[in-house]
Amino acid sequence: MATRTKEPVIPVTEIEHSAFCRTEDELPSKSLAEESKVNIRWQRIPTEYLHLSADELDARIHEARERLGDRVTVLGHHYQREEVIKYADFQGDSYLLSKNAASRPEADYIVFCGVHFMAETACILCAPHQKVILPNITAGCSMADMAPMDDVMDAWDDMQDVLGNHGGILPVAYMNTIAGLKSLCGRHGGIICTSSNAPAALKWAYERGERVLFLPDQHLGRNTGLKLGLSLDDMVVWNPFKPLGGNTPEKLRKAKMVLWQGHCSVHTRFTVKQIETARERYPDIKVIAHPECVMEVVQAADMNGSTEFIRKTINEAPAGSKWAVGTEISLVNRLAKQNPDKTIFCLDPVVCPCSTMYRIHPAYLSWVLDGLLEGEVVNRITVDDETQRYSRIALERMLEVV
Ligand code: 13P
Ligand code: SF4
Repeated sequence: MATRTKEPVIPVTEIEHSAFCRTEDELPSKSLAEESKVNIRWQRIPTEYLHLSADELDARIHEARERLGDRVTVLGHHYQREEVIKYADFQGDSYLLSKNAASRPEADYIVFCGVHFMAETACILCAPHQKVILPNITAGCSMADMAPMDDVMDAWDDMQDVLGNHGGILPVAYMNTIAGLKSLCGRHGGIICTSSNAPAALKWAYERGERVLFLPDQHLGRNTGLKLGLSLDDMVVWNPFKPLGGNTPEKLRKAKMVLWQGHCSVHTRFTVKQIETARERYPDIKVIAHPECVMEVVQAADMNGSTEFIRKTINEAPAGSKWAVGTEISLVNRLAKQNPDKTIFCLDPVVCPCSTMYRIHPAYLSWVLDGLLEGEVVNRITVDDETQRYSRIALERMLEVV
């Protein structure tokens, strides 16, 4: 079978992240030709796919899935749009999907409807004969792009120079990182976490070292550090554009956690003001937020947790309950649709999907499945052996702690 090599990952900009902010009525999928007018980078695709209607794509995807049978597993993250997630054999948060990827050795192909770091993780965890495919190669994650390998290695070397004789530092990387950083964790006694197991992963790390470098999401790191009893004074932020990350050697030696200065452009849109407005409108509302939101929002919310936690909590809530949700709009809209007996809305009145998750249009899914039918693996995600070996160690530590 022919395998087309992957193109390099293109960093996603903050501006691109607001490319799909729109009204509720405009959100349902249009043809790829229509959607491509939005000024972001799209992967080129054969023109025949650009003008296919939703029904035509649906018929093609169904036929391809039927013909491919068990040879293909489709995984879908909760942030995928409705028109894509309906084809997923498994839906979940990053943690559940990585477990699922590792538990389907019978499938030769794993088509990951999510973003690049998720497909890379599936590739690290799955069996050697399995091939992982990301339907649109430009579906990256702006947060993961904020921690490029060179910047982190420079920072790591600086930290070793300053902290070498002071108990050292253990790397803890959020799942939303490139594979190279996962392997840094594997090599240096560190661990990976997702938003569903960050407290357990950090506890694991503090049992083995007195200091942690948490990357790339400063908010998840700070929110989790506070949950574990650290104070704000115990944490410093590392700005990769400043010498020593903008810290003095003394400050670094005193710190228990060094937070990489990264963030999610979707979750940092949520504000305490939005929570106050929701509570004024509905005094009995429950506010639930993702821990990628800023500390003030997480503290003002009634509860916080991963996408799977949010999904489960709302689905299991009593009829008549009201929920203001601080996470990506595709998941919030799906929850609202699946729970018509509850009031569910997004904290942010402007409808902004994660623009990279949104790049998985059904036309791309159809294209990669048709490729498999013709014996061609399009958009295969690969990780070199050395990186894979050490990343796997860090990921397996994560899978063991919860
Ligand atoms: P979850 O691990 O909660 O699915 O979150 C992944 C993500 O990218 C959130 O922005
Ligand atoms: Fe990355 Fe944020 Fe999109 Fe999640 S929501 S994939 S962290 S950009």
